[in-house]
Amino acid sequence: MSIQAKGSMDRSNLIFSLQERQREEGYISDDAIREVADQFQMPPIEVEGVVSFYTQFKRVKPGKYKVAVCDGTACHIKGSTQVLNWARDHLGLAPGETDSEGLFSLEAVACLGCCSLAPVLSINGKAYGNLDRNKLLRVLRTYARREEDA
Ligand code: FES
Repeated sequence: MSIQAKGSMDRSNLIFSLQERQREEGYISDDAIREVADQFQMPPIEVEGVVSFYTQFKRVKPGKYKVAVCDGTACHIKGSTQVLNWARDHLGLAPGETDSEGLFSLEAVACLGCCSLAPVLSINGKAYGNLDRNKLLRVLRTYARREEDA
């Protein structure tokens, strides 16, 4: 096997390992960076470089409720930018952020697969469609109330 082929195989394995860690923990923690670096016998700064290169990897721990606003084509046409702005204003978060209590995180994502309900968001995988501002706020308040009642 050529050195170049071995290098690309190592990189594929590295990415696979990072994907596994993200699947388990929901993000790439500092511990994950160190452990994967040990596993591949490379400096942690190189692993950090790979993580920051690929947008699929998240370095911020997601909230208990992961709010994902779809920005696929159908949702975009039906006003997903406005939905994201409403969610951003209500939660006080920019996409990619998690609140200080670790309760909500917000992100914009590609098609969630239920375009007929556009515009759509999901919270922990449960989809809410045909959103307008009132429906969006109702949904977000329902999740916030769950915590108050817990
Ligand atoms: S584009 Fe939003 S669900 Fe498909």
